Amino acid sequence: HPQNSAGKPRILVTRKLPAAVEARLARDYDATFNPTDSVFDGARLVAESAGHDGILVCSTEKLPAAIIEKLPPEIKIVATFSVGHDHIDIAAAKARGLAVTNTPDVLTDATADTTLLLLLAAARRAYEGERMVREDRWGRWEPTGMLGVHVTGKRLAILGMGRIGRAVAQRARGFEMEIHYNNRSRLSPELEQGAIFHEDPEELLTVADFLSINCPATKETHHFLNADRIARMPDGAVVVNTARGSIVHDESLIAALTSGKLAAAGLDVFANEPAIHPGYRDLPNCFLLPHIGSATKETRDAMGFRALDNLDAFFAGKPPRDRVA
Ligand code: DGY
Repeated sequence: HPQNSAGKPRILVTRKLPAAVEARLARDYDATFNPTDSVFDGARLVAESAGHDGILVCSTEKLPAAIIEKLPPEIKIVATFSVGHDHIDIAAAKARGLAVTNTPDVLTDATADTTLLLLLAAARRAYEGERMVREDRWGRWEPTGMLGVHVTGKRLAILGMGRIGRAVAQRARGFEMEIHYNNRSRLSPELEQGAIFHEDPEELLTVADFLSINCPATKETHHFLNADRIARMPDGAVVVNTARGSIVHDESLIAALTSGKLAAAGLDVFANEPAIHPGYRDLPNCFLLPHIGSATKETRDAMGFRALDNLDAFFAGKPPRDRVA
């Protein structure tokens, strides 16, 4: 691979990364940093990647086919600091011979923890309660006040039983939940751990007292949770999404939360982040987080190191562990 005079590969780093990750980048690469952390749109990505061998991006940088085709020919790899890679057109990358890597495994636990946080917060009306206390509107303890949805022993339907879905199941077993799931293929009994497989995702919805969305965003999962499918769910169900906002049809979810068809939702991801559908803001039964599924210090360090492990392997001429294109 062409390198600069110091022999180090030249990497464009689009976002401000954890200090330990930037230190390793500065040591091992000829890295161009973005200390102001300003967002790269496609045009800037194309312009500033000139003279680099690779780009280290986040899910905030969109790489559709039109941008991938315009990247300078010296760019040979895009390493994303994320497990999701729906922001990158993988087919276009393959067609151009551009390598793409992601960061699986290291964010599984943090994201599963956030899923349970949302599940419990939505079910037990944490947003309403927190506001009541903070705004000094808490009158007295009431036998019939602030009643939420009981969690222990209920059925949890997991859409997408990959690493994160299985980690959600493992945690939910601590709440004695009955685990149901849909996945592209059925898991082995060792991985299933007694979870009940539904080949048909529509059928999964019929048992979903709680629905946790843990599948990738693809053409097939786009707007999966629409009005017809919500109608199949039990009345008073709770929806949790820590995957991608595009899997949910916002108007349908908002309508179901408004009518009471669904009791509550907990959302960490949205279709056009950082914008959210304004309908969510007015819903007290919706617990909203700003895409912090993997946001722990340990996890963000590990994601950076994993991205660097992939770059290291690639530039050493070895197969990167997490190659998705
Ligand atoms: C991921 O890793 O995919 C997170 O959602 C951040 O983009």
